[in-house]
Amino acid sequence: MAADTPYRLAVLAGDGIGPEVMAEALRVLDAVASARGFAFTYDEQLVGGAAIDAVGSALPDATLQACEASDAILFGSVGGPQWESLPPAEQPERGALLPLRKHFGLFANLRPSVCFPSLTHASPVKDALIEGGFDVLCVRELTGGLYFGAPKGTHEENGEKVAIDTMVYKESEIERIARVAFTAAMQRDKRVTSIDKANVLENGLLWRAVVERVAKDFPEVALDHLYVDNAAMQLIRRPRDFDVVLAENLFGDILSDEMAMIAGSLGMLSSASLGASKEGGLYFGMYEPSGGTAPDIAGQGIANPIAQILSAGMLLRYSLGLSAEADAIEAAVRGAIDDGARTGDLYTGEKGTEKVSTTAMGDAILSRLDISQS
Ligand code: IPM
Ligand code: MG
Repeated sequence: MAADTPYRLAVLAGDGIGPEVMAEALRVLDAVASARGFAFTYDEQLVGGAAIDAVGSALPDATLQACEASDAILFGSVGGPQWESLPPAEQPERGALLPLRKHFGLFANLRPSVCFPSLTHASPVKDALIEGGFDVLCVRELTGGLYFGAPKGTHEENGEKVAIDTMVYKESEIERIARVAFTAAMQRDKRVTSIDKANVLENGLLWRAVVERVAKDFPEVALDHLYVDNAAMQLIRRPRDFDVVLAENLFGDILSDEMAMIAGSLGMLSSASLGASKEGGLYFGMYEPSGGTAPDIAGQGIANPIAQILSAGMLLRYSLGLSAEADAIEAAVRGAIDDGARTGDLYTGEKGTEKVSTTAMGDAILSRLDISQS
C-alpha cells in the first residue's frame, strides 16, 4: 500500500492493563509500518469501564462510529471490580464486547492456544504431556447460541423467579463457522475436532450433521467429533493431539479458557473475531488478547504485552492481508522468548532467563523484528 493511504485502526485500550499493553502493540505496528513504508492512523476511543466513568456507557456512540470508519479494531480489555455492582447489562464486558460482536456480525472467533517449547514449565499440566509444546486453534462461534438466542430473560412464575436462555442455531450459522474451521485447518495440520452435545441437545444433532456436510467440501481434512464433556478431558490429557477445535459459542468460551490455562500464561494468547469475508479474502475484525484486565497488576508496568502484540499481528494477517509482516511479529515474539525475556507471569527463575517489564518485553520484541523494505 502507498504511504499516502494509511490504514485506519480503531484503538480501544479499555481498562486495567489494557492501556499499557496496547502501547507496546502500537510501537510494534509503527515499527512494521515504517520499515515497510506505509502508515497507520490510530483512532483511540473509550470503551468499557473507562467509558462508563467518562461518559456513562461502556460503548459510547463515538466509539462505535470510530469502529465503523476503521479498517479493523484493535481492542485491549475491559472490566474491573469497580464496575461489578452495576446492572449486568451495563457492565463493561456485557455492555461493550457483546454489542460490538453483534453489531459487526463477528461470528468467527479464532483463539490460538500456543505453548512454546521453551515455556512448557509455565503450564500447570505435567511436562510429559506437553513436552515440545503444542499449537491448537480454537474456532468458536461468536454471535449465536445461548448468548443471543430468544427468548431470554427472567420472569416470575408461581411466586418464584424463572430465568430463560435459549440455545438456537440455524444451519446457515453452523455452516459458515464450520467453513472457517475447515479453511483454517487447510493452512495447518488438516485436522478438525468438532465439539457438541449430540447425545442430549437438538442443537448438537444439527451441529454434527451440518459439520459432516461441510466436511465433504474439504476431503483432505480429517474430521472427528467429541462430546463437550469428553473434550474437556481429552484437551488436558493430550493437547498435542489437537489441531483445530470447532465449537459453538458457550462450549468454545469454556474450552478456550481451558486451553489458555493448559498453554501456561493467558498473557501469551491473542484472538481474532471476524465477520464475513470481504473481497480478496480479507475480514473486518476485532483483535484482542484473551487475558482480561488483570486489575491486580494494572499500572505497574509489569504486564505481559505479548497477547496484545500477537493480536495486532492477527489484525495484519486477517484484516489487512499483510501475512509476511504478521509472520515477522510472531517470529520476533518467539525470538524474545527463546532468548530468555520473561515478564512476571512467565518467569520461574530458570537459568538464562531474565525478568523484564512490559516496555522491556516490547523492546526485546522490537529489536528482533526482521522486516526490511521489499
Ligand atoms: C470471552 C469472555 C466473554 C464471553 C465475556 C466477557 C462476555 O469470557 O471473550 O471469552 O463470554 O464471550
Ligand atoms: Mg471467556
